[in-house]
Amino acid sequence: MLVNMNQVLVPARQQGIAIAAFNIYNLETAEAVYRAAVDLNSPVIFAFGEQYIKVANIKIIATIVQEFAGRTGLPMVLHLDHCKSIDVIYKAVQAGFTSVMFDGSKLSFADNLAQTKDVVKFAHSVGVTVEAELGSVPFDHKQSEIPEEYLTKVDEAVRFVSETKVDALAIAVGTAHGEYKGRPKIFHDRIEEIAAKVSIPLVLHGGSGVPDEDIQKAMRQGVSKINVNTQISSVAVKKLKALCAKEKPGHLSDLMHEAEEAMVEEVKLFIKLFRNDAGA
Ligand code: 13P
Repeated sequence: MLVNMNQVLVPARQQGIAIAAFNIYNLETAEAVYRAAVDLNSPVIFAFGEQYIKVANIKIIATIVQEFAGRTGLPMVLHLDHCKSIDVIYKAVQAGFTSVMFDGSKLSFADNLAQTKDVVKFAHSVGVTVEAELGSVPFDHKQSEIPEEYLTKVDEAVRFVSETKVDALAIAVGTAHGEYKGRPKIFHDRIEEIAAKVSIPLVLHGGSGVPDEDIQKAMRQGVSKINVNTQISSVAVKKLKALCAKEKPGHLSDLMHEAEEAMVEEVKLFIKLFRNDAGA
């Protein structure tokens, strides 16, 4: 069942757990996320990033996710990840996305606030939830410690949420997209300070490679959505590499199926960790 983000994130924040958002960009990634969620009887967020428009048609992705979500009573969200273009947000909503992220993190605070406000006005009028980002979760930062100036400022977060009326806020607290060089330093004090003053669900981007203890602590502190992309792609690539190294790799349909199987298992590990399953 397709729902918007509030229907899964608000209860998650109350329970001190997080809902996983996995990036999807083809049938295999979407099917892997769907199968893992159904196997574990768990809500999930399908996240299609604006950057994947070059490899996948947004309407076709929406149709695939709608088909999967329609097959179960489990709450599932079709979310547009990291979108800088208002036009693409309109297209996603038209295609049936139930949630969008407007990423104004590279804009000035004032412009991010003004543009996010416009997106929220439009999205809320059609029942679509909005995530925004304040501070900057780097895409190309391979260091284990993110510089202080990237982090979300508490007073700005308070003002931003109150004025824009966003539903969820992505905060920069030490994570980065992609692979880390060494153990990332997560600024838990900052999460604590933001969560004490901002009651909406907080979002952690760059979920791949963050130590389990940091994830668990962040969830207790108020992080209710965690984004994962790199690690799911890596297990599929590793599987394909191993299969292609064989003398007779076989038919593409079988290779893709094997890659999907590997992704299902990896997706399940994250879902279990984010809902605090014993032994996850
Ligand atoms: P990773 O690729 O580091 O898992 O981050 C994913 C993400 O934050 C997508 O928005």
